Amino acid sequence: MKLLRHLHPPGIRIQLMLWYTMVFALLLLCSDALLYTQLQTSQFTNLDKALRLEANQIAAGISNDAGTVVVQDVTGDLLDGSVTENSSASNTQQGGSHVDITFSTLVRILDTHNRIVRITPQFHMLLVPSTSLLLSSQQKEWQGTIQTRDGQQVRLYSMMITENGVPIAIVQVGESLTQLNNSLHSLLLELLVISPFALVLGAFGSYWLAARAFIPIDRLTRTARQIEAGDLQRRVSMPKARDEVYRLAQTLNEMIERLDQSFTRQQRFVADASHELRTPVAVIRSMTDLALLQELSPPEYITLLENVNSEAERLGHLISDLLALARADENKAIFEEEPLRLDELVNVVAANAEVLAAEHGITLEVHTKQPIIILGDESRLIQAVMNLIDNAILYTNSGGAVTVRTRHEATIAQIVVQDTGIGIAAEHLPHIFERFYRVDPARVRTEGNSSGLGLSLVKWVVEAHHGTIHVESQPGCGSTFTINLPLATPQDMQELFSGIPTPRQ
Ligand SMILES: Nc1ncnc2c1ncn2[C@@H]1O[C@H](COP(=O)(O)OP(=O)(O)OP(=O)(O)O)[C@@H](O)[C@H]1O
Ligand SMILES: [Mg+2]
Repeated sequence: MKLLRHLHPPGIRIQLMLWYTMVFALLLLCSDALLYTQLQTSQFTNLDKALRLEANQIAAGISNDAGTVVVQDVTGDLLDGSVTENSSASNTQQGGSHVDITFSTLVRILDTHNRIVRITPQFHMLLVPSTSLLLSSQQKEWQGTIQTRDGQQVRLYSMMITENGVPIAIVQVGESLTQLNNSLHSLLLELLVISPFALVLGAFGSYWLAARAFIPIDRLTRTARQIEAGDLQRRVSMPKARDEVYRLAQTLNEMIERLDQSFTRQQRFVADASHELRTPVAVIRSMTDLALLQELSPPEYITLLENVNSEAERLGHLISDLLALARADENKAIFEEEPLRLDELVNVVAANAEVLAAEHGITLEVHTKQPIIILGDESRLIQAVMNLIDNAILYTNSGGAVTVRTRHEATIAQIVVQDTGIGIAAEHLPHIFERFYRVDPARVRTEGNSSGLGLSLVKWVVEAHHGTIHVESQPGCGSTFTINLPLATPQDMQELFSGIPTPRQ
């Protein structure tokens, strides 16, 4: 048992071959048994029919002449060596040496007192049971397999002959079963020789078939193995037949496609991130190099340090954004799930953005009439709303207006941030949620700390809250960003707390 546990299970080809062979062996056994028994039954039925026919033919030549049985040899079976005896049936079972009765005629005619009228010489060899002499008068015929003195088998048919309903004689006809048994025996031998041979052939055949069936899968495996991380443009070839292998190839190709996309995204992300990180570092270095080369006045030093500080702040923002996105990619970011008042959260963020709006000469309006409760992560949601309001202010020219609204419909809470700013051209709309995507990098560079990560962070936060975000925009007319989030249901609340939660103030 220990040894068996260490053995590897056989390969799928061997397993298939074993299963096929087992089923084939079972079928072969059943068909062999059926063939043999069918043939045996039909041979016996034919023999019995022939015996009955012969007995009837002999019976046609038998008549009763005033109590004496008169036999006319109609079939010619009685001519050859048959004798007329007046002994009782029991006397016939004596004497006789070994005689081959295979091709002999075995006929005996008896009168109603069981006295032999006619008997062929070989019939003496038979051990005829007394039951064959039709003990009861109702019994008209008897049929059975009997033995000779030297153990040979004989099929015997015994019938009563009547004349006008009165029994006059008994005819017994037999035939050796040696030939029939021999042919059945040789059939059995043939089956015993052919069947294992067919079984071995079947086993090889099934192994070959299983191996053939796996060729396309082997091909897929080879191609899949050749596709390495850098070679994700390659695809496995699709088979023509739309079978399981086709579906496997399709699944593999879809998987490689997804891998390719994420690999490309990853590469671009790393390239963009390093590029973005290089810029503030380069700015800081050039400013500090300048300060080291020449002596500056104290106010100049202060300006320089302020610039270095602002670049360092930009660097800090960028690093924390990158970290958040990297966590999002790894699905490692942890989101709180607490009930919170969305209307109040938006009010707080908008109040903080007032200063920035005023700096840019923009009016900021907030409409949060109804209390709205959702389940979510407060700090992440603040980050998301702040990004949207910052964008609205940054991309709106002085004198414009930014409106922030919250409302709820059925099971959805909505945050709408609308501005009258520069808008976004249709060709850029599908890309603005991508990482590092900026419509006009030159413009934002002069505006301040822009990295093109803001909206991708907003989208990530919204989707992590099972929400959606969409944008409508017209260049020159302004943009509207709408966030839809699921409202907290009473069940949500109950799951989180045992009592009714009190919204945070
Ligand atoms: N309200 C808006 N009006 C016009 N353009 C916008 C607006 N919001 C975003 N955009 C465009 O979409 C781009 C992507 O915005 P996103 O917030 O992701 O990046 P960003 O603002 O450039 O940088 P940051 O990472 O600092 O937010 C912006 O560069 C800008 O061109
Ligand atoms: Mg932004």
